[in-house]
Amino acid sequence: MEKIQQIILVRRPEGVPVPEDFALAQADMPVPGENEILVRMRVGSVDPAIRGFLDDRPSYLPPVALGAPVNGMSLGEVVESNNSDYPVGTLVRTMATWSDHYVIGADALGLEVVHPQPGNELYHYMGALGPVGLTAWVGLFAVGEAKPGETVVVSAAAGATGSTVGQIAKAKGCKVIGLVGSPEKARVISDLGFDAAIDYRATPDIAAEITRAAPDGVDVYFDNVGGETLEAILPLMRLHGRVPVCGMIGQYNDADHPFGVKTLWQLVVNRIKMQGFITYDYPELLDQAQRELDGWVADGSLKPLANVRDGFEKLPEAFIDLMSGRTIGKTIVRI
Ligand SMILES: NC(=O)c1ccc[n+]([C@@H]2O[C@H](COP(=O)([O-])OP(=O)(O)OC[C@H]3O[C@@H](n4cnc5c(N)ncnc54)[C@H](OP(=O)(O)O)[C@@H]3O)[C@@H](O)[C@H]2O)c1
Repeated sequence: MEKIQQIILVRRPEGVPVPEDFALAQADMPVPGENEILVRMRVGSVDPAIRGFLDDRPSYLPPVALGAPVNGMSLGEVVESNNSDYPVGTLVRTMATWSDHYVIGADALGLEVVHPQPGNELYHYMGALGPVGLTAWVGLFAVGEAKPGETVVVSAAAGATGSTVGQIAKAKGCKVIGLVGSPEKARVISDLGFDAAIDYRATPDIAAEITRAAPDGVDVYFDNVGGETLEAILPLMRLHGRVPVCGMIGQYNDADHPFGVKTLWQLVVNRIKMQGFITYDYPELLDQAQRELDGWVADGSLKPLANVRDGFEKLPEAFIDLMSGRTIGKTIVRI
């Protein structure tokens, strides 16, 4: 029988994942049942959320079982179809597993048909023209209610989501301050047009640095990291400021020891709205978001940043780099 390749979890990571936590395995080619489709992975998405699925604790998906393929977003091509809505050749994006072929039904989580525009790399539809862009848009505008003229701070600003948030906030006329963990990342976001880039590792007082860049305070803090950064920024928020909580990657490698934020009282003092979100909770907004993202890429105001590796077997290595804070832009594996 024809075989497929999978990346399976062989050991639950402790701290930052290491290569020994994963293995390349083979399985029988799955066969689509009634109304199902067989998809060949073309772009694998490498996301911090996967770290949460590897621990044996509830996340918004059940934990990956030992010996099972790792869950992840995938962009692939339908190669066999028992569903006329998804004929052979259709490009689909969905939550799947790290398998170079997989079978899904129409109810697969986040399943969407992708229509790449000529001239755009397919992998950007897993990045700024896909889930990353939609996450940035939903978090910044639907949850964060950012408006022209307001001041936005974003953490992990050279990352996939952060670099997109900063650019689309600029495109809407906001002032944008990015927080990053290295001088190289600071250069990258300055080149993208951020008004200020703060390397938090190079300053003993991040609050003072942000205040220097935003003396009148912060209207929207787009939180990607949680922890000490969130604690430092809450007292800098303006009256009726908003904190869309996209993620807390600073906690993911050590989820048993969450950081206790001591400045939550500021939510009351400045009537701050702080709200977590998952992009696909807002299906009614995604068409508008996609149109705007397409427009910004077309007119050059949004430059998608991606670090791309080739080869299915590179998925663990790419994930380890991401969870070590070494990557810039969206981490992608092209198959
Ligand atoms: N809610 C949603 O629907 C949704 C969707 C996608 C992503 N997210 C969340 O958005 C956040 C960013 O995700 P992304 O895919 O755009 O990743 P990313 O920003 O491309 O990469 C991760 C970056 O996070 C920063 N970081 C801070 N503390 C870290 C730590 N302890 N370990 C490793 N990295 C650390 C690093 O940048 P610095 O060196 O600059 O600190 C690192 O380069 C994550 O919290 C993720 O869970 C949420």
